[in-house]
Amino acid sequence: MKATAKAPANIAFIKYWGKADDELRIPLNSSISMNLSEAYTVTTVEFQSDFKKDAVTLLGGSFSEKETARVIQGLERIRQRVGISMYARVVTKNTFPKGVGSAASASGFAALTVAGFSAAGVKLTEKELTIFARMGSGSACRSIPDGFVVWEKGKTSEDSYAHSLYSSTYWDIRDILVIVDAHMKKVPTTEGMEGIMTSPYWQDRIAGIPAKIIAMKLALAEKNFEKFGNSIEEDTLNMHHIMQTQTPPLMYWNDRTKEIMKRVYGWRKDGLPVYFSIDAGPNVHLFCEGKDINALVQKVRDIDGVQSIIINKPSIGAHCIPNHLF
Ligand code: PMV
Repeated sequence: MKATAKAPANIAFIKYWGKADDELRIPLNSSISMNLSEAYTVTTVEFQSDFKKDAVTLLGGSFSEKETARVIQGLERIRQRVGISMYARVVTKNTFPKGVGSAASASGFAALTVAGFSAAGVKLTEKELTIFARMGSGSACRSIPDGFVVWEKGKTSEDSYAHSLYSSTYWDIRDILVIVDAHMKKVPTTEGMEGIMTSPYWQDRIAGIPAKIIAMKLALAEKNFEKFGNSIEEDTLNMHHIMQTQTPPLMYWNDRTKEIMKRVYGWRKDGLPVYFSIDAGPNVHLFCEGKDINALVQKVRDIDGVQSIIINKPSIGAHCIPNHLF
């Protein structure tokens, strides 16, 4: 009983920060994202009756005890749903560094969910898969459907799920993930967002999200890149404002992050439409339209301190890949 799945990381346009239910990972707000074609995880899950315990291997890296325990909890949820008791072997590989705010847990739990249920021989609906992935890592639910995705916050576990708004071929926009620091971040998102209510501004953020979701949906429907970009930047700055005013404060940016943000303002002034987004880490996502990608890549490569870049198109969601061998 073995299966392999490939799942993209995703970048949120309107972001998720804060949970209404910590255990079930039901968020305080809905979010919208895009799957990334070149930042992904491939995971094989094998259940066997003669395995004596669960074994989890990250190729090209290692998991901490805490991370391994979280993967095993994910396997446990699958076993309970399917009604099996066999242990599993999990082998996984990312195309990008984990723990740097570039959503390895999203692609990781999406791939684990899709491979796990397939290995167990049980076919769930896409909606159910997003609910299971969400329980591993909230943003993982957005890596399951195709292309441009909304995660409806919901009130219960059953109605907190993700679905596609548009397919991956809907709009030719690009995301450059600019890695300026590939080290593990100090405060993981699960822990960081537990402090949201210590920020005096959190209620304003949450109250403002429904209007931002409507505006983002409109920008996508109109393919209006300027509206889209302004909304993305506004929400990034708003989320980081919350993070920075929490107790203890979370400052995920470093000097390179700020330098890139300033460059983006400058490039825009000079007529290149480019916008930034930043998750819980120092690395920066840059958005442009397909026609501008070469000009932008050139400019990014000229910046000191850029360690690597990953150029993404919108991607399809998580899916099984047959006959894969690591
Ligand atoms: O799902 P998590 O625990 O990795 O949280 C993701 C949080 C952000 O990346 C900061 C925002 C988002 O919506 O992806």
